[in-house]
Amino acid sequence: MTSTTKVPFLDLVTPHQELKAELMQVVEKALGNAGFIGGPMVEDFEREFAKFCDTRYCVGVNSGTDALRFAFMAADVKPGEIIVTVPHTFIATTEAISQVGAHIAFVDINEKTYTMDPEKLREYLEQRCEFDKSRGKLIEKASQRAVSAIVPVHLYGQTADMDPILELASKYNLVVIEDACQAHGAEYFSRKDGVWKKAGTMGRAAAFSFYPGKNLGACGEAGSANSNDEEMAKRMKMIRDHGQAKKYYHDIEGYNGRLDSIQAGWLSVKLRHLTKWNESRRQLAHRYHELFADAKDSVIVPQESEWTKGVYHLYVVRVQDREALQAHLAQAGIGTGIHYPIPLHLQKAYQHLGYKNGDFPVTERVALEIVSLPMYPQLKRNQQDEVVGAVKEFCAARVGAAR
Ligand SMILES: Cc1ncc(COP(=O)(O)O)c(C=O)c1O
Repeated sequence: MTSTTKVPFLDLVTPHQELKAELMQVVEKALGNAGFIGGPMVEDFEREFAKFCDTRYCVGVNSGTDALRFAFMAADVKPGEIIVTVPHTFIATTEAISQVGAHIAFVDINEKTYTMDPEKLREYLEQRCEFDKSRGKLIEKASQRAVSAIVPVHLYGQTADMDPILELASKYNLVVIEDACQAHGAEYFSRKDGVWKKAGTMGRAAAFSFYPGKNLGACGEAGSANSNDEEMAKRMKMIRDHGQAKKYYHDIEGYNGRLDSIQAGWLSVKLRHLTKWNESRRQLAHRYHELFADAKDSVIVPQESEWTKGVYHLYVVRVQDREALQAHLAQAGIGTGIHYPIPLHLQKAYQHLGYKNGDFPVTERVALEIVSLPMYPQLKRNQQDEVVGAVKEFCAARVGAAR
């Protein structure tokens, strides 16, 4: 962002300035009692965020990445086993898989939702795997590895289609861990159960990130692992704290993965605004949809299925020539992002997995066309108009040049 930026991609300064007095009170409190680790501020936030998410438990940890890793460990995923996820996500999803010694298997996303395609998951589980009665496990035929878990990622603030994913998981006895790092407060309508459910309530556990730019962001690194399962919550608590439930009594080896008290206090302050902020994001998204309605041929806007209520962590459109669009918008003082430019199966870090271009065509196509436009609760209507005007200007010039 430069000083000439008219519409930054993200404005993290305004909300913190608005809440400065309350945020400073948290610091005063911590300095007053030197309660920097654990204690009431962490416990209060855990209770409040569990309530917000409709989960019984919330375990505060130091990042969304650790929340995923601790959930896999608590769910007893063993080294060498396979965890299935999507290649269209932030690398933290798969880093956490590798960090527990598990093996990554990808399935493609759905072109409308940008989240795990349940049919592709079915194809993988039913065609590339077989049930081994003697081991009581689903085995990937090529590698002979056991498949143990599925990680649907609720990307951009919209949930994956969980009914069919959960049905497959139950059929093959697989654990589901939701990556809800971008989906605080997102909802999913279960056609099977006839009820709306919050992101993070549907798997054995779910990971949330409170990285500063998230819908609920800390003023530093933070995350949480939520669950309705008491045993999972107990284990995740132990794992985040060196494997101890009682000080210096270590049942297992764990990690230093705790949530700082000051961060927890700050998160509590910001959590009180989250419902309102999410609603602003939804309104802004719907306004973007409307403003782009007459540019359907050149701009594909996010599509919300009737079974999701997204919280628009990001507003991601698809266009041809997106690098040129980004340059055009930068020229007009408008910030953009790309989430994510290179699918994980084509990243250098995953060369050893042996995937190649063409393996996940939807992810690959989408990755070439996506651009994230400015989206945050404080985005003003006139700023939004500037963004849409500049995008349309670019598209019109492109169409004109093609004639
Ligand atoms: C989809 C997804 N998964 C996992 C993470 C990891 O969260 P954190 O950055 O808090 O470790 C993020 C955050 O960027 C994310 O967007």
